[in-house]
Amino acid sequence: MCGIVGYAGPRPTVRPSDPAGGEALAVVLEGLRRLEYRGYDSAGVALVVEREVPSGSADGVPLGAHELRVSKRAGRLARLVEALEADPVPDAAAAIGHTRWATHGGPTDANAHPHTSADGRLAVIHNGIIENYAALKAELLEQGVVFTSQTDTEVTAHLLGRAAASHLGRVGQPDGPADPATALADAMREVCAGLEGAFTLLAVHADAPGVVVGARRNSPLVVGLGEGANYLGSDVAAFIGRTRSALELGQDQVVTITATSVDVTGFDGTPVVPRAFTVDWDAAAAEKGGYQWYMDKEIHEQPKAVADTLLGRTDASGALVLDELRMDTAVLRRTDKIIVIACGTSAYAGHVAKYAVEHWCRIPVEVELASEFRYRDPVLTERTLVVAISQSGESMDVVMAVRHAREQGAKVLAICNTQGSTIPREADAALYTHAGPEVAVASTKAFLAQITACYLLGLFLAQLRGNMFADEVRAVLRQLHQMPDAVQTVLDRTEGVRELARELADSKSVLFLGRHVGFPVALEGALKLKELAYLHAEGFAAGELKHGPIALVEEGQPVFVIVPSPDSRDSLHAKVVSNAQEVRARGARTIVIAEDGDDAVLGSADLVVRVPRVPTLMAPLVTVVPLQVFAMEVASAKGLDVDQPRNLAKSVTVE
Ligand code: F6R
Repeated sequence: MCGIVGYAGPRPTVRPSDPAGGEALAVVLEGLRRLEYRGYDSAGVALVVEREVPSGSADGVPLGAHELRVSKRAGRLARLVEALEADPVPDAAAAIGHTRWATHGGPTDANAHPHTSADGRLAVIHNGIIENYAALKAELLEQGVVFTSQTDTEVTAHLLGRAAASHLGRVGQPDGPADPATALADAMREVCAGLEGAFTLLAVHADAPGVVVGARRNSPLVVGLGEGANYLGSDVAAFIGRTRSALELGQDQVVTITATSVDVTGFDGTPVVPRAFTVDWDAAAAEKGGYQWYMDKEIHEQPKAVADTLLGRTDASGALVLDELRMDTAVLRRTDKIIVIACGTSAYAGHVAKYAVEHWCRIPVEVELASEFRYRDPVLTERTLVVAISQSGESMDVVMAVRHAREQGAKVLAICNTQGSTIPREADAALYTHAGPEVAVASTKAFLAQITACYLLGLFLAQLRGNMFADEVRAVLRQLHQMPDAVQTVLDRTEGVRELARELADSKSVLFLGRHVGFPVALEGALKLKELAYLHAEGFAAGELKHGPIALVEEGQPVFVIVPSPDSRDSLHAKVVSNAQEVRARGARTIVIAEDGDDAVLGSADLVVRVPRVPTLMAPLVTVVPLQVFAMEVASAKGLDVDQPRNLAKSVTVE
């Protein structure tokens, strides 16, 4: 939620009067383009540029003096780029950029970031919510400060502007800061001490050229280490085109970057040595690679996402190895309850995992929406294992739930796709999915990778606790290793679903039914359709239908039915086929997802979408794929932006 980029590089060689833009703007716009999935209500940049003194000028400006250039626009990044083309900015040694998901104040030019201080010398960008902004604003208004936006962020611009002026004014004095960079960092620490809520802030100042200062509390910020330039970003996508070498920042830390230095302290000024890491994917992974939509590309990357998540997690004999799980095996052995906390699609991955983990480990598994978890009184003990699933590693609801769980004494294990992010850092242990960067707002490949990682965890627990023999675990691992090919088979056959999507694009409502692991898949199919195509969609446990929802069914109502394998236990297959018949008898148009060779569905289906034959617990990895493609194609047929649906953001860093 909100993308943030910062750049500090060498002093520009291009003359200030050259309107060609330059490296600073190029870096920041490239970063914003990669981060636009975090929010796309507005975008803006601020650069500290050299002020050119016309020869013979008598305006008293010292040679080499700098000024701030700010450009911002409501709407997509393209609008900002147009504005910058019409009114170019020269190159700079420091720049910041922001792409916004509006919280306080609508998406207007005035509310777009950066915001500037009253003296016009400082610009700040912000991700998060300043919870005490109203009180701070009231004080500033009383002092005569004029506000130009409705944002909570603007208070920080005024506070930082004042603090910076005071600290910069003392540079070089006996008890003053050593240089402008230190002065700006001092100002940031001073202001952050009085802020409440969640924030990442980046600031540049005209009197501290070549310097960007950042701060973080409860919102993400990572550092990119370049050669002769350094970067800041909400996540590594911001600078992945420039460097893969990165530093993690912790809670309540302030970072100062210049072209050649990175300094990190706590809010109290104590120096900090941040943890370094190397980003394990490259810039090409975050590009569209010839697809019209990132989502389409990511759907097609699903076989690889599953394969990469399995990679290196079995030894030569096919046995499971999860040494990376830095968690005391005694803790895992004594676990008597698992609570999965997650949001949206990640929570549905947890729902799928519940069926497998309970079956394999005989440990009760609860799946709880992270946003609900901390507001009730969850029963947690030191024997409870909380599993936090998050693609971004930054969903604030999950961050808060993780903290709540740890405060209650539970151990937390994070399943996450993003290195350097908050959730794995705050958890007791982490198991990474290796889906690569997921750029489209709607999650696809992360979902499959999350199910895979949850299954690895379940098998590991089952083996450790003696619920399964090593051979049994090996057999399931072999099934998992066959899934990339099975998913590829589904991808090779999507034309029928695409055609159906174009035909059903004007539907008012679509229902999804499933049982057992098919139930969370139904929920996921409905979520995809809601968020991408803006049409009413609901997923139901197929058995619940007759307890109410069947009243919704009328002539022509499209209903997807996820039919389990004919090999499943307890006549699960027959029951779901009956449910399909029940809705069809009431006029529904049934689209049945069924295995190759399952002819029992023919009598209850208007259309059959075939998936390969796989064991019941593996089925979600294949049955969800046609539903993802369907939602994408309906949105596309309606002329909607598939990658950036309205009102959404990829990484939800507010509660
Ligand atoms: C839906 C979707 C969201 C996310 C949810 C959790 O397509 O992408 O529902 O799954 O916001 O995000 P993470 O996994 O980043 O915590």
